[in-house]
Amino acid sequence: MDKPKYYITTPIYYPSGNMHIGHTYTTVAADSMTRFKKLTGYDAYFLTGTDEHGQKIERKAAEAGVTPKQYVDKIVDETKALWKLMDIEYDDFIRTTDERHEKVVQKIFRKFYEQGDIYKSNYEGYYCTPCESYWTQSQLVDKDGVKVCPDCGRPCELAKEEAYFFRMSKYQDRLLKHIEDHPEFIQPEARKREMVNNFLKPGLQDLCVSRTSFKWGVPVTFNDKHVIYVWIDALSNYITGLGYDVDGSGELYKKYWPADVHIIGKDILRFHTIYWPIMLMALGEPLPKQVFGHPWLLNGESKMSKSLGNVIYADDLARHFGVDGVRYYCLREMPFASDGNITYESMIARYNADLANTLGNLVNRTIAMNKKYFDSVIQQPGEVTELDQDLRDTATGAVQRVIEAMDTLHVADSLEEIMVLARRSNKYIDETAPWVLAKDEAQRERLGTVLYNLLESIRIIGILIQPFLPETGEKILAQLAARPEAGTLDSAAVFGGLVPGDVTGEAVPLFARIDEKKKLAELAAEAEAAAKAAAPKEEPKEEPKPGKPEITIDDFAKVELKVGEVVASERVKGANKLLVSQIKIGTETKQIVSGIAKWYSPEEFVGKKVVVVTNLQPVKLRGVLSEGMILCAEDEAGNLAVVSTEKDVQSGAEVR
Ligand code: MSP
Repeated sequence: MDKPKYYITTPIYYPSGNMHIGHTYTTVAADSMTRFKKLTGYDAYFLTGTDEHGQKIERKAAEAGVTPKQYVDKIVDETKALWKLMDIEYDDFIRTTDERHEKVVQKIFRKFYEQGDIYKSNYEGYYCTPCESYWTQSQLVDKDGVKVCPDCGRPCELAKEEAYFFRMSKYQDRLLKHIEDHPEFIQPEARKREMVNNFLKPGLQDLCVSRTSFKWGVPVTFNDKHVIYVWIDALSNYITGLGYDVDGSGELYKKYWPADVHIIGKDILRFHTIYWPIMLMALGEPLPKQVFGHPWLLNGESKMSKSLGNVIYADDLARHFGVDGVRYYCLREMPFASDGNITYESMIARYNADLANTLGNLVNRTIAMNKKYFDSVIQQPGEVTELDQDLRDTATGAVQRVIEAMDTLHVADSLEEIMVLARRSNKYIDETAPWVLAKDEAQRERLGTVLYNLLESIRIIGILIQPFLPETGEKILAQLAARPEAGTLDSAAVFGGLVPGDVTGEAVPLFARIDEKKKLAELAAEAEAAAKAAAPKEEPKEEPKPGKPEITIDDFAKVELKVGEVVASERVKGANKLLVSQIKIGTETKQIVSGIAKWYSPEEFVGKKVVVVTNLQPVKLRGVLSEGMILCAEDEAGNLAVVSTEKDVQSGAEVR
């Protein structure tokens, strides 16, 4: 019989910077859920990836002096290496720059347009010229009574640009009904009310789905001024990654869609429970069965952010706590519905209490005792006492409870169930005192039974913990030298999988206890070193060099300078400092916006020969495209003159 299928996804993350512990949390959670499903006999498919387009990445790449693709390639490589380190086993990694994705997104956009779901209009918002960003009124920040850009603090102006919009309201009632008819669709429950009451019931706004103000995006095929803006591009990954195509989809899509669950953070729940289902309705495709919006992982009390300097990275933590130490902490510490906190103190406490003292100790003591008393040979268990039965019930009960908890994605509760069994087993050691039994030859059989029961408990723990802590689970089963058939979930439901006469392996410590004081001092020293390395370098005190730092000839060679002739020029409407000019450079003509209207009128500017930076990334200034920069000199008195050549040369001549 075919295995039941299960399709699970994470968000595709922005590779604008390296992934931190928050992204790692989501990915580890999804990985554990996938592994658990596989353990319970599902054919599970796990997709993750990166969301690579947009203005922020375009800008970051420009700052780094590389192309956007070069910029994201590097971060994607680092992300994949991090997922490998964290033992994350995805089935596929989708990038929105993959051709398989871009082509299909273009077709989806066209289909929406052709069937009237997308229409052309104007996007209006508050525009920050230096940041080239639109903001809504509510996003602006008040500075001395002036509304300013939340990023750079400079004033914004109301501006307009042509854009395509998706008619969300058309599908609103259908979506509301779907949410009401499928109570499991949005999880946790509280978030569903938030979506329905705050967004759906008040009425959906149409969504802006294209931009003309930047280039780094998937072009709209029927209007190449526009790129597809964010959400249609990003959300489609869940189906393009499976080979969905408007003109006929591939086998993976037919097999796995609809998704069983999208695991995401609560920050993007609205996009996944409103825009995404509506897009799917418009495509005529089935909706995902569930969207799970997990809470935030906070650093102490605050959200992690680069500007607060409190971002925690999983690979740094793994150096101190091991990969499974980090996986355990994130999964165990994150509550189902309310935010979780990371502190080094709680991390050390959790590690010591659960992993070192409870689990590590249990496994180590048991394997060592079996070696000491029975030369590692697994004994035939004898009579089952009440005490033994209690341990057996706890063990088989744990299997049921973990399965139930995982059915509703209560990962932390599942881990707690496993720890309950480990604690019960440690207590069983104290209650049965094998070291006392060992002194009495008449108790030999009883000692064998006690150790058998303990080894069995450990086996069940090893099986149950594998999806969450793969390496630890594997190590436990290896120490038990369990036969493959004694490593399955089915076998965990029955006490008695280990075969008497088989020989257990060597005791290898799983988790060494951490000295809290020492570890905190180490972590503090590392944080200090990192802060120093990140701080701007101090200028040498003696003989500071005036001007900008020295550059090499190669740095200079990156700038392409050419002579151009101004063939037309006019003022930019609504911007009294700007001229927009057409500059003939050899055989091509570029449009350039410059802030020189105070010194040159359009009439006197036409006909001048100027020097132009021709390989500058195009930008929009006040909504007008500028494809280069005209060189000017300005003195301290505020006199400005454009740079020209000393003798007349033809336009297009290179300036070196
Ligand atoms: N690219 C979009 C998602 C598109 S999905 C079609 C995006 N990317 S992101 O890089 O900002 O990642 C956001 C996701 O990262 C959150 O939804 C969550 O899964 C994870 N997290 C980022 N920071 C987090 C915490 N501090 N805590 C928990 N999860 C966090 O949004």
